Amino acid sequence: MTNMFEIYPPIVQSAIAGVADRKYCQQMLDLGAGMVTLGGFPADRLNYKASLKMKERGRTECIPPTNEKELSEWFNQNLLLFKRNKRQRTAINLRIVTVDQITEKWLEALDGKVDFLELNVHCRQKEVLSIGAGEGLLRDLKKLDQLLASISKFLQKTKLSIKIRGCSVGDKDSLIEILEKQQVNYIHIDSMLKGENVADILLLKSYCNSTDIPIIGNNSVRCIEDVKKMLKVGAIAVSIARPLIRHPNFIAVLIHQLEG
Ligand SMILES: Cc1cc2nc3c(=O)[nH]c(=O)nc-3n(C[C@H](O)[C@H](O)[C@H](O)COP(=O)(O)O)c2cc1C
Repeated sequence: MTNMFEIYPPIVQSAIAGVADRKYCQQMLDLGAGMVTLGGFPADRLNYKASLKMKERGRTECIPPTNEKELSEWFNQNLLLFKRNKRQRTAINLRIVTVDQITEKWLEALDGKVDFLELNVHCRQKEVLSIGAGEGLLRDLKKLDQLLASISKFLQKTKLSIKIRGCSVGDKDSLIEILEKQQVNYIHIDSMLKGENVADILLLKSYCNSTDIPIIGNNSVRCIEDVKKMLKVGAIAVSIARPLIRHPNFIAVLIHQLEG
């Protein structure tokens, strides 16, 4: 059984590659976010290559150095966040498909610096899917199982968690079985209703009812009613990404409305 934990306020800044750097996440903590998410970043050789290809075609990506010395300086400068209160949490979202030397450096460097490593099983860019990473891992649950086990071996203090795209899951029961076995600390679910700009609340509810692993709900949270709907079906927190790119202060507005 996974230990329950609290995210308070239950409003989280979700990963936004190329935007959510240390400065941005610090701003989110200062605005009172219950949890912030650095990244996502590529954290193995194959994912670095995929990120380079995505950057070449104009996608905003943050690609840290691979050279050992520069990477360790990058970690020192980019992972340090200051919480405003003891209940705030920090996470880093990483794309990994094989634990290699680059991954090992990442895992050793981040352990203890952030509360959660959120494995990105969500990205659906073609360069990422072509290497079996991101949501591609949902199509190979055995590989996902082994990957989670390999990552866990490197983590002493930082806890492992996962971000998934709910509508891309084929076999939910087998997925949950693996996540429970690997003692994943939370499941962050992009609950998008395929082809629509609304969340699939029933899908979110079905996960909340199927496992004791804490669930963070995501997608199309645009007002306080959207927050309440997700909390009502059992999510421990909800997360937001796109509105916060142009309007970071929106997170403070929602927190104020929830607490008011
Ligand atoms: C520009 C951009 C970059 C994103 N990068 C990541 C990422 O690196 N990792 C990830 O798990 N999700 C990423 N997401 C997905 C968001 O975290 C979120 O799941 C999605 O945008 C739906 O939430 P929203 O409706 O609040 O935007 C990204 C979204 C956008 C718009």
